[in-house]
Amino acid sequence: MDEKKEDEFSRFETYHGPKLVYNEILLDHFTNPRNTGEIKDASGVAMVGDPMCGDSVKLFIKVENDILKKVTYQVFGCGAAIATSSILSELATGKTIDEALVITDDDVIEAAKGIPERKAHCSLLAVQALHEAIGDYLIKKSQEDNELFKFRTNSIDESERNGK
Ligand code: FES
Repeated sequence: MDEKKEDEFSRFETYHGPKLVYNEILLDHFTNPRNTGEIKDASGVAMVGDPMCGDSVKLFIKVENDILKKVTYQVFGCGAAIATSSILSELATGKTIDEALVITDDDVIEAAKGIPERKAHCSLLAVQALHEAIGDYLIKKSQEDNELFKFRTNSIDESERNGK
């Protein structure tokens, strides 16, 4: 190995900066993430990115009778983002829309029993994506309700015009 190459490698061996210590819960969710993937007929979808690191989370929800029946996600990012998205998906599944809207990154960190401070921001991605996916669902639902309202109003007008 030439001297220049050797210097490049020794740079890594002498790294003495802060080390990230992930607890067992985070490692478990990182190595075995729950509820991953896409929901084809999702009720709401959102993609959120962190401009500082370039990571992003795309999150899907399936809502039935105001309950989040399914919460899935795709992570394009770091291990902490994967682990916290997995934890969030478990926290949010089965919640009502109102309950899910008040889930915070602190709830995710508490469920994870802590996260290295430098990685705390990673837990925000999935939470923001969840709130935006719910927003997407609510907008679609109100549009559908409006369409239904217009349809019903038109049907009533039509009946009146026909004297029925
Ligand atoms: Fe970007 Fe973790 S470093 S989300």
